[in-house]
Amino acid sequence: DAHFRDDIAAILQLKKERNAVILAHNYQTPEIFHCIADIQGDSLALARKAQGLEADVILMAGVHFMAETVKLLNPDRTVLIPDAHAGCSLAESITARDVRQLKARHPGVPVVTYVNSSAEVKAETDICCTSGNARRVMKYAAAQAGTGRVIMIPDEFLATNISRDTGIEAITWPGHCEVHELFTPLQIKQYRRIHPGVVVIAHPECPPEVIEAADFSGSTAEMIAFITEKKPQKALLVTECSMSDNLAQLNPGTEFVRPCNLCPHMKRITLKGIRHALETMQIPVEIPASLVERARASVERMLAV
Ligand code: 13P
Ligand code: SF4
Repeated sequence: DAHFRDDIAAILQLKKERNAVILAHNYQTPEIFHCIADIQGDSLALARKAQGLEADVILMAGVHFMAETVKLLNPDRTVLIPDAHAGCSLAESITARDVRQLKARHPGVPVVTYVNSSAEVKAETDICCTSGNARRVMKYAAAQAGTGRVIMIPDEFLATNISRDTGIEAITWPGHCEVHELFTPLQIKQYRRIHPGVVVIAHPECPPEVIEAADFSGSTAEMIAFITEKKPQKALLVTECSMSDNLAQLNPGTEFVRPCNLCPHMKRITLKGIRHALETMQIPVEIPASLVERARASVERMLAV
């Protein structure tokens, strides 16, 4: 697209000059995802691949909690986020004080925190999880503590969905993803009627009744693996819109039907913003020293499971 060519060329040049790598979440728009990203993935893959990168500068094409996680794992590197307001409704739903109160109410119950959370909340956490490893981490945390229950925050729907799978009780928090909470089983029913045979894949941040109405549930990376392996004729990805846009380019044999919802936070990241960030080295992510060790430990425990 001629419209993007100038910015893409400038970004590729700036990456070399700055010895920078660009990490892009699967919800980034195709021109970012396909044209300038060095590493693409779900939250788990980005956290894993961020470990020990050689670059001097790591730019996160994603939201703030993702950049914070990268900074926790790469304290000596400059980590940039192009827009300080690229937040997340889940991360904003809970504070460290809320977590301390939950722990006081449920002594001895381990705290499993979705990576969609701030560093101060991670610092109060026993172990983090992502949608890609939530089952495994939940089982591990309960077994380690010798309990049949965990405090699983801040996503009420993720906790409920995973608790149904594992049979482990989840003490939840009323946080929701503003993108996934909007989907309804009625939408899925209507799309199935219009598109007979469509395979419906829903993200586990969706309400439990939406997961029940779907054929498969998984993280964004698990969605990609499913489409790549099974090559369905028609698929409905019950998630953020860019997932289907990015996958359509790689899987021309699959027709992607919608609905989808846009994440306003992910969409704050643009080619122009990334170019500006690399030109000006803005905005560097910093984490208060008092939080770093404890927050990092909760992420590293997750990566070790
Ligand atoms: P995953 O890519 O880890 O499935 O997470 C989805 C999401 O909403 C990230 O903000
Ligand atoms: Fe947060 Fe949902 Fe946006 Fe992901 S899609 S960043 S969970 S609001």
